[in-house]
Amino acid sequence: MQLPQVGTNPHWTGYACGLCGKAHPTDHRGFVCAACGDEGILDATYDYAAIRAELPAGDPFPARGRPDLWRYAALLPLRPEAPHACWSLGDTPLHAPHRLREHLGLPHLLLKDDTALPSASLKDRATAVAMADGARLGVSHVAAASTGNAAASLAVLAARAGVRTTIFVPAAAPRAKLAQLELHGAEVRRIDGTYDEAFDLSVKETREHGWYSRNCAYNPLLVEGKKTCGLEIAHALDFRAPDAVFVPTGDGCIVSSTAKAFVELAEVGRLDRVPAVFGVQAAGAAPLSRAWGEAGARAASLTPREVLAAVAPVTPATIADSISVGVPRNRLKAWKYVARTGGGFLAVEDEAIREAIRLLARLAGVWAEPSGAAGFAGLMQARAQGLIGPHDKVVALVTGHGLKDPLAGMPLV
Ligand SMILES: Cc1ncc(COP(=O)(O)O)c(C=O)c1O
Ligand SMILES: [Zn+2]
Repeated sequence: MQLPQVGTNPHWTGYACGLCGKAHPTDHRGFVCAACGDEGILDATYDYAAIRAELPAGDPFPARGRPDLWRYAALLPLRPEAPHACWSLGDTPLHAPHRLREHLGLPHLLLKDDTALPSASLKDRATAVAMADGARLGVSHVAAASTGNAAASLAVLAARAGVRTTIFVPAAAPRAKLAQLELHGAEVRRIDGTYDEAFDLSVKETREHGWYSRNCAYNPLLVEGKKTCGLEIAHALDFRAPDAVFVPTGDGCIVSSTAKAFVELAEVGRLDRVPAVFGVQAAGAAPLSRAWGEAGARAASLTPREVLAAVAPVTPATIADSISVGVPRNRLKAWKYVARTGGGFLAVEDEAIREAIRLLARLAGVWAEPSGAAGFAGLMQARAQGLIGPHDKVVALVTGHGLKDPLAGMPLV
């Protein structure tokens, strides 16, 4: 079956290189900067003045039919002409968990529950855009490297679209995640090595075979899809910004896109102020948080080259497999946008993640995998350290479902 046609946003102007700043046109091929190569990850750019002028008064993002992430098409690069099960998704709950609020003494706590997406992780927002872009370009084979969830998302949505997939996963990926891939018909390449090695191999093979890359840290359009999580949060709050948002962070794509969503909403005149966005890493895989802490008061003003030099690779070790990343591929974008929000990067111990899983499950009825709970663990830590006040409106993104790694939250495993 043919997928519906996909057009582009006329106010999408192209890409800027995160390292040298060079502008690239919308039809740039090869994903990364022509001058900088793989370190030059691109960032989609828009004509914000034109978007601002065209947004309707009242609700700037009215849904056409059943609400999905395409209601934010004004701030996305692509425009599918019709809904399809492989890309029409989003509109996840923003819970006001009253028992958890009481327990923590945080009366304005909110949880953005992206476990409700089709493959049970936030990654579906990026895959939806990959499916749309693949349809636009007429591509029928998509590849990705993944700690598990991006791959699962690709396998699920590609099965809906009828697109072939090759997925590179590290040998340590949880079995439940591998099962999800195989079941949905993906070709799985298990790499006897780390996620970082799987990533490098996938970039090489994708290039050699001319496949479409669903590597979020590489293909700049995917971060655009993930912006819709932040856009939905702001929308649900009637465009009154929360004080702080906590985001589990591995490669740095989700935190970049969450921060970018708020920055752009302010840019088009629809948000009163930008909330502080915090990237939360596991203490055993925390190169961004470490570098941010070491840079101290200078952190927000480092140049891209200084950021590259400051973020030293680590050998990752954490129960949170999805954020077990030693070299955050999107570190430049993550640093840039987090700095623009006045937020920062934190690190939480595995035990704090386990505690977060249990509290979310018992007092909010939300089951998160370890990485999915890391943002909430960071939020609790920020409260304990006085980084946020008791009356602040704070949001934790819950990014992946506990069924993907069901034993991780148990005290005895
Ligand atoms: C559940 C979950 N949370 C958080 C992340 C981290 O996202 P990023 O690599 O964009 O920082 C991932 C990435 O795999 C994930 O699967
Ligand atoms: Zn460049």
